[in-house]
Amino acid sequence: MAIPKVVLNDGYKLPKVGLGTFQLRGGIGYHQIISAIKDGYRSIDSATNYDNEGIVGKAIRDSGVPRDQIFVSSKLPGKYHGYDDALNAIKESLARMGLEYFDLYLIHWPLPKRGLYVEAWKALVTAQKLGLIKSIGVSNFEPEHLDKIIAETGVTPSVNQIEIHPYWVNDQRVQEDAKRGIVTEAWSPLGRGSSALSEPIVKKLAEKYDKNVGQIILRWHIQRGIVPLPKSTNLKHQRANLDVFDFELTDDEVKAINTLDRQDGRIDGQDPNEYEEFE
Ligand code: A2P
Repeated sequence: MAIPKVVLNDGYKLPKVGLGTFQLRGGIGYHQIISAIKDGYRSIDSATNYDNEGIVGKAIRDSGVPRDQIFVSSKLPGKYHGYDDALNAIKESLARMGLEYFDLYLIHWPLPKRGLYVEAWKALVTAQKLGLIKSIGVSNFEPEHLDKIIAETGVTPSVNQIEIHPYWVNDQRVQEDAKRGIVTEAWSPLGRGSSALSEPIVKKLAEKYDKNVGQIILRWHIQRGIVPLPKSTNLKHQRANLDVFDFELTDDEVKAINTLDRQDGRIDGQDPNEYEEFE
C-alpha cells in the first residue's frame, strides 16, 4: 500500500510515516532497513549523530527501489554549526551515504547557548541552492528559534522534528509550527517503548479497532497532523507501524490520549533551551 503524503511548504511531499533509525547500526541495521523498504517504508530518518549514515545509505542504494522514490533525511551535529563547517558536514554526510542529495536535512539541536544556529541555517539555505538538499528544516527548535532564523534569512523551515509521545503531548509547539506553515515530525513517537504503550486507554482502543497499541499511538499522531518516525527492530512491528491508514479515532479518543500528558514527560529530560551536544 502506498503511504499517504503531506505537502511541505516548499512543494515537496513527505510520507506521513517514516522509519526512525536511531540505534539501527552495522549489519543488523542494514538488513532491518532493507526489509523496512521492502515492506513499504519510503521515508528514512537518519542523523550524523546516529553513526549509521553508511549503512542507511547502503541499504537505500541496495534496496532496488529507485532513489527518487525514497525520502531520505539526515541531521547536522552541534559541533558543525559554523557556516563553513556546516556546508562541509553536509557534503561529508552525503559522501558517507553514497547519495547525490538529501530530501530533507535538519539542524539537529538549536544549542542556543552556543548561538550559532542562524549560521547553520544559512549553510542549509546555501546547500539547498547548490542542489545538495531538497527540503531544509530543523529539529528541537522552540518558536523563538524559528522566528530568529526566519527573520534573518527570510526562509521558513519545511519541518520541525520534536519529541512527541503520549507522555509529552507537546500541543503548543505543534500549533506554533503549524502557524508558521511548518510540518511537525515526532521523534520517539512511541515514547521509546515506555509504559505509554500499556496505558489502559491505549489498550482499550487497540481492542476496539483490532490494532496493536503502537498503531493506536501512531494514528493519534497522524490525526493531530504530526508525522511520526517510529523505530522498531521487530519486523512484525515495522510492518504494523505502516498499517495505520485504514481506521480513524474519534476526536474524543484523541483527547483521551492527550490526557496522558505529564509535566515531566520528556524521555531524557532534553529541554532544547538547555540541551548541549557538541560531539
Ligand atoms: P521493538 O523494536 O521490539 O519493536 P520509539 O519509536 O518511540 O523510539 O519507540 C521504539 C520502541 O517501541 C521500541 O522499543 C520498539 O520495540 C517499540 N515498538 C515499535 N513499534 C511497536 C508496536 N507496533 N507495538 C509495540 N511496540 C512497538
